[in-house]
Amino acid sequence: MHKRNNPTKKDISRQLITYYNQDYHFSDGHILGSMCTAPHPIAQKAYHQFLDTNLGDPELFPGTKTMETKLIHYICHMLHAPPTADGLIVSGGTEGNISAIWIAKLLSNKTTILVPEHAHFSFEKVALLMNIKLKKIPSTKDYTVNIAHLKKNITNDVAAVVAIAGSTDLGTIDPIPEINDLCIDEHLFLHIDAAFGGFIIPYLKTLKPNIPDFDFRLKGVSTISVDAHKMGYGAIPLGTLIMREKQWIDLISVTSPCISSTRQAGILGTRSGGPVAAAYAVTHYLGPKGYQKVITTCIQNTTYFIHQIQKLGLNLLLEPTMNVIAIHFTNPTRVAQALAQQGWRVNIMEHLSSIRIVVMPQITKQIIDEFIPVLKKVCIEVGEL
Ligand SMILES: Cc1ncc(COP(=O)(O)O)c(C=O)c1O
Repeated sequence: MHKRNNPTKKDISRQLITYYNQDYHFSDGHILGSMCTAPHPIAQKAYHQFLDTNLGDPELFPGTKTMETKLIHYICHMLHAPPTADGLIVSGGTEGNISAIWIAKLLSNKTTILVPEHAHFSFEKVALLMNIKLKKIPSTKDYTVNIAHLKKNITNDVAAVVAIAGSTDLGTIDPIPEINDLCIDEHLFLHIDAAFGGFIIPYLKTLKPNIPDFDFRLKGVSTISVDAHKMGYGAIPLGTLIMREKQWIDLISVTSPCISSTRQAGILGTRSGGPVAAAYAVTHYLGPKGYQKVITTCIQNTTYFIHQIQKLGLNLLLEPTMNVIAIHFTNPTRVAQALAQQGWRVNIMEHLSSIRIVVMPQITKQIIDEFIPVLKKVCIEVGEL
């Protein structure tokens, strides 16, 4: 009988290199549209070190569990959470949003949520998974939620109001102080989706003092989701859901026989401690001063990028609030496809007739200077200039 040999380590290694080379890499600087980046070197090292840990079975990994608790405390502190607060580590913004609405539904026994039109599509999953009705609240011309419409839609069956601190399309921030007051008056659960903005806004405030508050200093804020795998410089997958009352965790916990702990909270079971170690390492290494530097550079590079785009004669959809740029085009898909042929990836927003660029830490001035002539050439080719 013909014996089929397994590939050798060398063969596998060659295959892995081949697959790796088919990918784009953050470090190349050609991924311009993503809200993620290459993890900080200290995060990469920590990730590898904790690859074989399982936080689904935490008593076997008490050291990793302690790191997780400290990471949650770090984020609580960053968000000015009260002493009653606690948090969950989740896989990212999607799971953070699902878990927040899960809590709101259990607390209220109601099934409608008010969600800005510009909210992330993960709320569609919330609706599908939990039999929740989404009432979409229109945006104003500056792409933040329309407060008058929000007020009009408050009815007896509302389980939660959602506000966005750093929208996916444009990085806009809803008027959260006003929404907060409304939710206090109406006794409504308020979830803030700061998956992208959570690591930016605390540091943006020193550059742009008019940025609205979004965190637990506003007493009506119930939960906030913040991702370390976006602007936190951590490794994928790492999100957090911070909640005002630690007992809310019990609502979404079940008895867990057959593992080292008696109760398990949240959606996931087995999960790696690698991303937790990565986020712990980078948050504690950079600290507020380090993040201030990272965010300041991203905002300076955004300003530089905008000038170069406008010098070409192209138009922005609106003045960016943070490091998210939307360039208006007649046919954004054609522009994005032509850029992809030149090896540059941007995100298409057909609904806004724009392409999205996110000025993450890997997008340096040098990368911008390389990209601008390509953008010009492509725009001329497809008739946008
Ligand atoms: C505001 C916001 N919320 C939630 C998400 C979903 O995050 P994830 O893809 O990490 O689940 C995103 C993703 O970009 C986002 O921008």
